[in-house]
Amino acid sequence: MKYQGVKGTMDFLPETAECAYDLEVKARNILNLYGYRELRLPVLENINVFLRGLGDTTDIVQKQLFRIADKEDICLRPEGTAQLVRSCVQNNLFEANERVKKLFYVGAMFRGERPQKGRLRQFHQIGVEAMGVRSPVLDAEVIKLGYDILCSFGLENGKHFSLEINTLGTLDDKHAFESYLKDTLESAKPDLCDLCNDRYDKNILRVLDCKNPSCKEIVSNLDLDRSYLSDESKKYYAEVLRRLDDFGITVYNDDPLLVRGLDYYTHTVFEFTTDLLGAQAAIGAGGRYDNLVKELGGKEVPCCGFGLGLERIMLMLEDDYKELSPIRVFVAYAGEENFDAAYDCVMMLRDEGISADLDFTKPSLKSQLKYSQKVNAEFVVILGEDEIKNNVYMLRDMQNSQQHTVDFDGLIDKLTY
Ligand code: HAM
Repeated sequence: MKYQGVKGTMDFLPETAECAYDLEVKARNILNLYGYRELRLPVLENINVFLRGLGDTTDIVQKQLFRIADKEDICLRPEGTAQLVRSCVQNNLFEANERVKKLFYVGAMFRGERPQKGRLRQFHQIGVEAMGVRSPVLDAEVIKLGYDILCSFGLENGKHFSLEINTLGTLDDKHAFESYLKDTLESAKPDLCDLCNDRYDKNILRVLDCKNPSCKEIVSNLDLDRSYLSDESKKYYAEVLRRLDDFGITVYNDDPLLVRGLDYYTHTVFEFTTDLLGAQAAIGAGGRYDNLVKELGGKEVPCCGFGLGLERIMLMLEDDYKELSPIRVFVAYAGEENFDAAYDCVMMLRDEGISADLDFTKPSLKSQLKYSQKVNAEFVVILGEDEIKNNVYMLRDMQNSQQHTVDFDGLIDKLTY
């Protein structure tokens, strides 16, 4: 009996796993430059963290939470922000005099969405949260950090991705925005879909990202002039944009319609989007959330962060990871009787920190040499009768097919340049 993996999950085969690992290493290097520390949290989480933290009417809470059937208060985490805040509050990580706490996480998230290309039920995020300061400089720095990570993957702004940015202002401004939308959309209610009529009463901001064509049409004709923002919030946002300019991020789409699907945001919100993945355009997203820590039982700690969707980014980079990285040395031997000598050589190379392997099935030398190409070896060591007798090694550089006979020191010299 053959079994299928769970729909909407993905097996990372070696090429994919290598891609994921490579991206993670690159991201960690940049995170290190910006002073972020890692937090590793469980995939099982107290469901109330999300019920309280994300908003009752968000899609995640209403439709996508994976609850553990026989354990009432447990679910698989759908995102990392509310969970990280829970952990910081529980573990008293917000110290009295700390200026800014910079934390990151890498891990699997779970959402019961309808699976399609780039939309999974188990996916991975690299998430960052900068906590403790409300400052437009920090918002801009967080965006720049995401931008730098994407660039370190070889992605370019304008070519592979775009930056969309908006501000929701303070909580009061957000309420003013909601009232403004209610007034503006009231006459259009009969043309909104049923869900949006429901959203009109419960969470009107969600109408702005409805996929229904009629709703989209209505939304695209809205004139959102940001008159609902306080002067303070307008100034804050202008400073975020000015800092981005200073950082050399001058190309972005300042979009008053961008509201994001989670309720905890205030002030700056942003998304990194791409045209290269069809409907699943967001490869990363985030924003400021100044009220969540308090909402989850902590003190007032203003925060800002984002999550990058690893699988979506990997889809964009698929062509760069078609081949596994090469093994450094493949050791081939003439005749079964020389297997042990070859194996000794492999182990000595590994002791020197050089990746090495050999064929355990003991086939002909010709077949081993053919196999060495398949495993993409950079060098092949050939051990024939003569080499073994004279305690030397024939080293072939697979790139130019040149070969030399060397002793063990010479071998190590050549392989560790
Ligand atoms: P989010 O927009 O829900 O934000 O998710 C962030 C990213 O995760 C998305 O831009 C996308 O790349 C990826 N993603 C989301 N859902 C899926 C899915 N079903 N399949 C594949 N990839 C997916 C958050 O989760 C916030 N916690 C981000 C944040 C951190 N805001 C502040 N700090």
